[in-house]
Amino acid sequence: MIYQGEALSVQLLQDGIAELRFDGAGAINKLDRATLLSLEQAVTALEQTSGIRGLMLTSAKDAFIVGADITEFLELFELPEAELGDWLAKANAIFNRIEDLPFPTLSVVRGYALGGGCECILATDYRIGDASARIGLPETKLGIMPGFGGTVRLPRLIGADNAMEWITTGQENKAEACLAVGVLDAVVDSDKLQTAAIRLLQDATAGKQDWQGKRARKCAPLTLDKLEAMMSFNTAKGMVAAKAGPHYPAPITAVKTIEAAAALGRDAALLVEQDNFVKLAKTPVARALVGIFLNDQFIKGKAKKAAKAAPATRKAAVLGAGIMGGGIAYQSAVKGIPAVMKDINDQALALGMNEAGKLLNKQLERGKIDGFKLTQVLSSITPTLSYDGLQGVDMVVEAVVENPKIKSQVLAEVETKVSEDAVIASNTSTIPISTLARSLQRPERFCGMHFFNPVHRMPLVEIIRGEQTSDDTINKVVAYAAAMGKSPVVVNDCPGFFVNRVLFPYFFGFGKLIADGADFVQVDKVMEKVFGWPMGPAYLLDVVGIDTGHHAAAVMAEGFPARMSKAGKDAIDVMYEQQRFGQKNGKGFYAYSQDKKGKPKKEADPQSYQLLQAVVTGQAEFAQDDIIARMMIPMINEVVLCLEEGIIGSPAEADLALVYGLGFPPFRGGVFRYLDTLGLASYVALADKFAHLGPLYQVSPGLRQMAADGKTFY
Ligand SMILES: NC(=O)c1ccc[n+]([C@@H]2O[C@H](COP(=O)([O-])OP(=O)(O)OC[C@H]3O[C@@H](n4cnc5c(N)ncnc54)[C@H](O)[C@@H]3O)[C@@H](O)[C@H]2O)c1
Repeated sequence: MIYQGEALSVQLLQDGIAELRFDGAGAINKLDRATLLSLEQAVTALEQTSGIRGLMLTSAKDAFIVGADITEFLELFELPEAELGDWLAKANAIFNRIEDLPFPTLSVVRGYALGGGCECILATDYRIGDASARIGLPETKLGIMPGFGGTVRLPRLIGADNAMEWITTGQENKAEACLAVGVLDAVVDSDKLQTAAIRLLQDATAGKQDWQGKRARKCAPLTLDKLEAMMSFNTAKGMVAAKAGPHYPAPITAVKTIEAAAALGRDAALLVEQDNFVKLAKTPVARALVGIFLNDQFIKGKAKKAAKAAPATRKAAVLGAGIMGGGIAYQSAVKGIPAVMKDINDQALALGMNEAGKLLNKQLERGKIDGFKLTQVLSSITPTLSYDGLQGVDMVVEAVVENPKIKSQVLAEVETKVSEDAVIASNTSTIPISTLARSLQRPERFCGMHFFNPVHRMPLVEIIRGEQTSDDTINKVVAYAAAMGKSPVVVNDCPGFFVNRVLFPYFFGFGKLIADGADFVQVDKVMEKVFGWPMGPAYLLDVVGIDTGHHAAAVMAEGFPARMSKAGKDAIDVMYEQQRFGQKNGKGFYAYSQDKKGKPKKEADPQSYQLLQAVVTGQAEFAQDDIIARMMIPMINEVVLCLEEGIIGSPAEADLALVYGLGFPPFRGGVFRYLDTLGLASYVALADKFAHLGPLYQVSPGLRQMAADGKTFY
């Protein structure tokens, strides 16, 4: 044994070949601070041991190294710039020392070598893997970029163009793709990895492989002439800027880093990387994106606990085969949980099956599934008009029309058809769960399970605990949502639950802006381009359906009259009265037609402006910042109230629900992250400027106090 540390060890195998084996304490290997320290000691031991003729890096786990320890990031990013730079320099010194060892080096990759794990293997002369290898540099997805030499070594190994693609997309690359570009030197069967590694190292030692030449190229400037470089970097910059957009600086910074360091040798190039890494780590965008990752981990952890505490769902029933019911049955079946899909209408069932078929065929075309899987999934959805097929069902999701009477009747009916320990959940978007629970004999086995449209694509499921819902029920439904591949967030009951409760104040803010003379097209543009929502409010209402929005607005007004009742008609009412229901019937705020590919195309419609005159009382012109403030303050205040009232459990869950359920701009991280970034005192001062607009613009006393105390949410 040459070295033994907490997370790794080094020993001599045969013929002077040493093995450095990563074996972290948990289920996976991470490059956390402790492991880096250990690695540094191991390298010192290697440098001081005589007789070593080759080194291979391996892992005792199924994966090589999954990456840096992201839970350490936010604390690291808070360090003063110089200290953060020092930390990077120290880590880089370790990888440089591995690269400079006086004998050939090689990494053996099974499973993930991502982020820091990928940068670690780039420091060795050779890399071989088996078919399970997945290699990549996903840092830009977190708003940062590689900081352990990835932007330096990767382009020198596989060329600037390939490296820029890997780094700016953050993609994970399969073994074959890694072999094709030259990140892997060979892909062999798993049981031959060890022998192949030893043979390659022996060949290198024997001078049959030019390992010194390989190493020298990795440490030299990039081999691009001026013209090539100009073409390559300018094209990349154009493409990356267009794709990432102005709100995500990391990918373009990575390209500029590679460009700026192109003519430099390793050590100077690493300094360029270090500077730019520090700059990115200090941006609110990095904090927001890392925050989302951590919030996601938090939710996943909760779901895992729930799954341990509750029996897994074996067979589900979905009531209603409409847009939502069809989507829920499909999603359940795709994830291996068979679903009976019941409706009262034959055509609805046919449509539901048809939609599932279409989605599966798309996956088949993309090569994601094969024909066998397609038939298997389709045959695990059982369409039916009767309750007969419900034996053995342990989970029911009700997704019939949004009508309290019909829902109550259907829920009472189905309860008599399933076993006593089956759980029933409703996908209602507005009706309080405790109200629906009244029609049930076993309200403790009932809760809300609010999916978002389209079900197969939207990651959030809001799980609503009614007054009588038991913990067992919540655990079972959380586990079912997670098994469906969704992110479950548990909330308490109130009109609109969490997501719709905070969305409608935003729409009321929109109505008030229109009344005061704003142009809805301008509002949409600002909220999309400047704030970063995927759709502005008018377009979103058109997509959701003006009739749906109109109905939900009324429910919210009844539920929260002090804040959400309206003095008179607003823009949504105007559209509703004219039966301009939005995209579904071709006209809403915008007019819709089909483009050549049959996709809906939206255009501003002069008629909308005329109709809206009925509710416009002002003629103000609005600056971008005012539009954003007037739209966002009502939502932000409502989100804060939901936390104060315990509707949502934590800032982390609130922010994740906003990003995953509504598409809140990820680079802002969610409402609480956004407030922390703005500073609570600045936010309160801003909101106070708009307080005259009504109760939705009043900051809660709790938030005011937090601001006065200089507190933050995270
Ligand atoms: N569409 C959305 O964006 C969305 C999003 C979240 C939640 N929801 C909620 O999901 C539920 C369903 O909405 P949808 O958009 O899928 O509606 P939909 O109109 O597309 O489908 C409703 C289906 O229920 C069927 N149905 C009616 N009575 C029934 C009964 N007694 N037994 C069985 N089936 C019956 C209808 O035939 C129809 O096929 C509603 O509660 C809605 O509020 C909808």
